[in-house]
Amino acid sequence: MEKKNLDWSNIGFSYMTTDKRYVANYKDGQWGPGELTSDSTVVLNECAGILQYCQECFEGLKAYTTADGSIVTFRPDLNAERMMDSAAWLEMPPFPKERFLEAVDQVVKANAAWVPPYGSGATLYLRPYMFASGPVIGVKPATEYQFRLFVTPVGPYFKGGAKPLTLCVSDFDRAAPHGSGHIKAGLNYAMSLHASVLAHEAGYDENLFPDSATRTYVEETGGANFLFITKDHEVVTPQSGSILPSITRRSLVYVAEHYLGLKVTQRPVKLSELSEFAECGLCGTAAVISPVGKIVDHGKEICFASGMDEMGEITRKLYDTLTGIQMGTVEAPKGWIRKIV
Ligand code: PLP
Ligand code: COI
Repeated sequence: MEKKNLDWSNIGFSYMTTDKRYVANYKDGQWGPGELTSDSTVVLNECAGILQYCQECFEGLKAYTTADGSIVTFRPDLNAERMMDSAAWLEMPPFPKERFLEAVDQVVKANAAWVPPYGSGATLYLRPYMFASGPVIGVKPATEYQFRLFVTPVGPYFKGGAKPLTLCVSDFDRAAPHGSGHIKAGLNYAMSLHASVLAHEAGYDENLFPDSATRTYVEETGGANFLFITKDHEVVTPQSGSILPSITRRSLVYVAEHYLGLKVTQRPVKLSELSEFAECGLCGTAAVISPVGKIVDHGKEICFASGMDEMGEITRKLYDTLTGIQMGTVEAPKGWIRKIV
């Protein structure tokens, strides 16, 4: 199979239309068969639930070309499960896990020419999503839904790749204490856009959203969880009921404990203790682990000892081990890698 003629090492994190995507419809109380299609457009009724009341959830995962030339995905079962949780919370019919995994396999296989080569620094990003396609005008769940999955090749999420980021503590809330922060719903991201535009205009790479109730604890950014390293090389990750249960973070916790022999603590993290950490990183499918050099809290600068030039020592070890597992150069825990081709 011949690869597409792209400058793989220089693509950014943006959408490109690829060859095939998967579509399945839910109607009359059940999911229909589903198929691959070349049509990248979605035609909807003007009163579709997604357009009126934002009933939608999505996932993000990647396919990798490994060192031996295989194409694999990383823990797609966890994305399938999280999407079922998101759907249930939004009163949508969950898309069955086995069908999610079949859709992943089919779409990646059909777009194998778009999977970036090993060593290019790029990967294939998979975007499964589902939305209310049926009409609703009173505020209630729709009765018809569509599940889709498309793929697009991507480079690093943050421009500059591994250069440490500067964040600011946001004045806005992303998710409420008993709200939807723990699910992957498009509405959470709409909530973060105004804050994100303001942060970028002010010269910051991203927002740190504090907890909405007290504004004293670290939650997450608009698209990644936090990971901190203490001066004694302990890994600390913020615990909260209103952040997304990141699959990358859960994987890194395992890697830190079982591959690197590090102590890991998951607990609420106060903004006031940030200056005590030696390293900070953002973790997620898109972010992988992106180092943070500085956080600005209303004029007060918190600079991590790892500096603004490169990743800190422990962050680097975590990054190398995780990406080694994904690219097939480090042995993976059982069940983490799903081979597609
Ligand atoms: N937090 C938010 C708000 C996200 O959008 C993402 C991205 O998916 C993450 C965290 C990281 O989650 P994961 O590691 O499962 O990609
Ligand atoms: C992901 O990492 O998959 C996400 O969904 C984050 C998004 C900001 C691109």
